[in-house]
Amino acid sequence: MVAAEAPTTAPGETVDMELENVIRRRRMVRSFSGRRVPDDVVRRIVGAAVRAPTAGNTDGWAVVALQGPSETAAFWDATTTAEWRERSQRWPGLSLAPLVLAVMTSPGRYLDRYAEADKAPSGLGRTPSAEHAGDPAPPGDPAHPRDPAHPRDPAHPGTPALSEAASLAPAVPVGDPAEHAWPVPYWFVDAGQVVTHLLLAATDAALGACFLGNFRGETALLTTLGVPDGWRYVGAVLVGEPGAGDHRSASLARGRRQVDDVTHFGRW
Ligand SMILES: Cc1cc2nc3c(=O)[nH]c(=O)nc-3n(C[C@H](O)[C@H](O)[C@H](O)COP(=O)(O)O)c2cc1C
Repeated sequence: MVAAEAPTTAPGETVDMELENVIRRRRMVRSFSGRRVPDDVVRRIVGAAVRAPTAGNTDGWAVVALQGPSETAAFWDATTTAEWRERSQRWPGLSLAPLVLAVMTSPGRYLDRYAEADKAPSGLGRTPSAEHAGDPAPPGDPAHPRDPAHPRDPAHPGTPALSEAASLAPAVPVGDPAEHAWPVPYWFVDAGQVVTHLLLAATDAALGACFLGNFRGETALLTTLGVPDGWRYVGAVLVGEPGAGDHRSASLARGRRQVDDVTHFGRW
């Protein structure tokens, strides 16, 4: 094991870092050189995500790996607007990301998995009545997202009302009503863990990486990438050799909390 505060390896070459060093070094990189990430490194990064925890071992996620400008252009066209590209200071650096890993998740796979014998007692599996299109979501408690008192995206009733940016996007496909019985949708929990593994694996490969959330263009992206019905787009991990003029997030001014700030020992 070597301390790897400033690795001198070529991009993509394995740096044998302690986990703690990888975690400390990982930060969002928003400017790339454009140099292609070798295929074996792409496979190694995704391979780390295959090791991510997954509820019920469902593994209901997938990535679409877009490599090189001709493929990544489809991602940018679907998820950004010409107006944003025109005014964003980050766009020149982001646009050079040679690898875009678009993370997808399938709620239906979790509904099916949790209908299997060992998980059926959870009551979270797909129910026969839920298979009928148009069934209303079951009534919920006030704290639960399915509570009708909370504003919803009418096209996707299990999600909170979307931001104005998302209103630019066509509606995403309506999911199975049984999705709304889940207090915590594991398909998004799993996808988050996948994203973390991708980010850490990219750092371990001496590459930069950045997660971009799903702001807009989900339906357009799913369509243009040929993603089957029922899959949701979660966000994308951009990966590549860091480029000049990185743009740190203004959010960093909020600072990083310490263990005692986030931990309530024994009781909140
Ligand atoms: C769910 C989620 C969505 C994010 N969306 C974006 C995004 O769309 N664009 C972006 O530049 N950074 C995005 N970030 C990165 C955060 O801004 C970043 O993680 C945070 O400011 C801490 O910085 P660090 O990751 O470099 O330590 C996102 C992070 C998460 C976890």
